Amino acid sequence: MSDRAQDDTVTYVVENRIAWVSFNRPEKRNCQSPRLNRRMMQVLEELEFREDVGVLVLTGEGSAWCAGMDLKEYFRENEEKGLGAVRKAQREAYGWWERLRWYEKPTIAMVNGWCFGGAYGPLFSCDLAVAAEDAQFGLSEINWGILPGGGASKVIVELTGFRNAMYHAMMGENVDGRKAAEWGLVNEAVPADRLKARVTEIAQVLLGKNAHALRGTKWAIRRVSEMTFDNSMDYLVRTQEAANFFDSEGRKEATRQFIDDKTFKPGLGAYDL
Ligand code: ACO
Repeated sequence: MSDRAQDDTVTYVVENRIAWVSFNRPEKRNCQSPRLNRRMMQVLEELEFREDVGVLVLTGEGSAWCAGMDLKEYFRENEEKGLGAVRKAQREAYGWWERLRWYEKPTIAMVNGWCFGGAYGPLFSCDLAVAAEDAQFGLSEINWGILPGGGASKVIVELTGFRNAMYHAMMGENVDGRKAAEWGLVNEAVPADRLKARVTEIAQVLLGKNAHALRGTKWAIRRVSEMTFDNSMDYLVRTQEAANFFDSEGRKEATRQFIDDKTFKPGLGAYDL
């Protein structure tokens, strides 16, 4: 099954239960304009509850994944209009990043090229991230006289730790996909010509898992990263108990296949859905 959306700042195609969503302003290195941000929210809404979508991949057309915020249309033009316009533009951008952060379906950032500043928001929003080895990541804010706002400072500390974050933010030097993987900004880096195949491979593994359990898992990982140990324990017990009401059959079936049928082992792969 396959289809295409009309608007041109963000495009998508659904193939074999994978929604391939693309930033599509390659001539502007896919930087985030207010129009793109509004369109991305629509696209995420269109795809979130579709039964033929099991995984969402976010990538970019051309040489960039996303060159951050649009310095002209997002910053300069809104600042000229005043604080109301600035706040509106922020809500539109941060709104879709948040929607993506708590998306119903598993998400993968497929970082094909340039990834700067404001792109770290959606990078963090995606559950997994795979980069081309030669993709370039940078907190370029310092290079044009601002601090890494819009969540970027938080993302770099969260994903890479204090020393790397400080160096990256203060020096304004880019790192490539390999270094980004070493730092934990992305899960792994592969040669550009293998990028789509590797992301497809990961998506296919996810498609073979229980969808309720995947959603619970990704939300749990995000929640507990901000909790104390005891609060995490409490959250996890309650969340699993609540999930048992929502999907009691999945785990019973898995247990049956393991204990009774002996047709699968949870330590070696997913049960037969
Ligand atoms: N905002 C607005 N326009 C942009 C942006 C951006 N973030 N990034 C690229 N563009 C535009 C360029 O102005 C240029 O427009 P033009 O064709 O009308 O002149 C077009 O995209 C192509 O850009 P080039 O610079 O010519 O492309 P090149 O491939 O040589 O370089 C690179 C790519 C390195 C990404 C460069 O465009 C760049 O440095 N972009 C800005 C990156 C950045 O610092 N982003 C902001 C991060 S901070 C934040 O988001 C809060």
